[in-house]
Amino acid sequence: MCSSLLVLGLAITASAFSNFGPDTLPACQDVEIPVNVSVARYILNATVENDWDVAALALNLTRRPPGVPLPVAGLTSTLVESSYRIGATLCGKGNATLVLTHGIIESKKYWNPDFPGGEKYNFITAAIATGYSVLSYDRIGVGSSSKVSSSTDAQFQVQGAVLNELVAYARKEMDAQKVVLFGHSYGSYISALSASQTAVDAVILTGFSGSFANFAPFVAGAGFRIANLQNPKRWGHLDSGYLTTSDLFATAYAYFTEPYFNHSVAEWSHYVGSEPFAIGELPSVLKTQINYSAIEAPVLVLQGQYDVSACGGDCVGLLRDTAALFKSSQTVKTVDNLPAGHNLNLHFAAPRAFEIVFEFLRDQHL
Ligand SMILES: *[C@@H]1O[C@H](CO)[C@@H](O)[C@H](O)[C@H]1NC(C)=O
Ligand SMILES: *[C@@H]1O[C@H](CO)[C@@H](O)[C@H](O)[C@H]1NC(C)=O
Ligand SMILES: *[C@@H]1O[C@H](CO)[C@@H](O)[C@H](O)[C@H]1NC(C)=O
Ligand SMILES: *[C@@H]1O[C@H](CO)[C@@H](O)[C@H](O)[C@H]1NC(C)=O
Ligand SMILES: *[C@@H]1O[C@H](CO)[C@@H](O)[C@H](O)[C@H]1NC(C)=O
Ligand SMILES: *[C@@H]1O[C@H](CO)[C@@H](O)[C@H](O)[C@H]1NC(C)=O
Repeated sequence: MCSSLLVLGLAITASAFSNFGPDTLPACQDVEIPVNVSVARYILNATVENDWDVAALALNLTRRPPGVPLPVAGLTSTLVESSYRIGATLCGKGNATLVLTHGIIESKKYWNPDFPGGEKYNFITAAIATGYSVLSYDRIGVGSSSKVSSSTDAQFQVQGAVLNELVAYARKEMDAQKVVLFGHSYGSYISALSASQTAVDAVILTGFSGSFANFAPFVAGAGFRIANLQNPKRWGHLDSGYLTTSDLFATAYAYFTEPYFNHSVAEWSHYVGSEPFAIGELPSVLKTQINYSAIEAPVLVLQGQYDVSACGGDCVGLLRDTAALFKSSQTVKTVDNLPAGHNLNLHFAAPRAFEIVFEFLRDQHL
């Protein structure tokens, strides 16, 4: 299904790129990638059975002092092995492959908006037109990937291990000579974790400041609700530990900033692009210490200025501390002032954001 939509999207977009006729369009295909991971798991001690529990959890995650008590009772003493199937879309014929990791309450559709008029927000078609290959995927627990336990599987370090496997897949199965990790939001944290464990050629982080100091307004404003109660038709198959926002306007508060976006794009994002996230994700990312010093690849941190979860609504001045995290990277570039909120690619500034990404990659000879 997705691949025909994508081909349609590509056909529509082709006219926007002068030397890029339908005959030379690189093929996209949807694939299922089997991966095995072996990682320790956090033992969650939050029980979420109804929306009263979710409200209590949100207060726990946002009250003073910040960050305590996290609902984590410890870590398994041994590694836990799991096999998952990853729903992925592969496009393009370039030698450099961009591996795209989406954020929470998102899916791989974030990179490939499929509504009429969505071309200028479409990172995948822009990347292919610029000569890159792309691997975009749904995280485990999301959309086309394996349905997993919201507490024992859907954890940050597990997502990082999955991404490490996808980097290996890009090199082996897609013949990628260079691999770039491009994340959005939680996907940026996963990309940074993976880049600290696996050599890659560049890292691009959006919706990211490396700090959770301004996280509370996001958690409070999103108004988390149990997804299978919120929309049984769409999400009745998910366990009660999968959460989404309370409504369109909660999504707008968390992810969009006026007047820099089109309301109909936010509606698409909420009603079509979004997918619930698992309760295991946030406690595990808050518990994990990413070794940013182990990242040697060049890093671009690209921010909508008015990002709520990353910057508390204003990134200007905050990214100096972010850049300082990457002590071993030869190059760290930050952009803090694109006129946009958290979902950068879905604001009017998207084409400019994509240009900055491609300029950065060219500067790195990628
Ligand atoms: C994953 O592990 C299973 C069982 O050990 C094995 O049969 C399978 O080939 C492995 N898959 C991959 C992709 O490594
Ligand atoms: C919130 O924190 C309180 C006090 O630590 C705890 O008793 C309660 O179980 C927590 N609720 C959730 C849903 O995490
Ligand atoms: C979970 O366990 C930890 C460590 O034992 C404790 O500090 C925390 O209060 C517990 N949280 C809940 C929600 O029960
Ligand atoms: C990819 O690499 C091959 C071998 O190094 C080279 O011949 C080719 O021109 C490269 N293609 C692109 C699109 O850069
Ligand atoms: C916003 O989206 C609507 C409907 O998709 C479209 O008609 C309109 O031109 C868009 N406005 C802008 C400023 O992009
Ligand atoms: C982080 O990575 C650096 C560089 O590889 C290494 O020297 C350091 O020991 C690592 N720190 C931790 C806590 O693992």
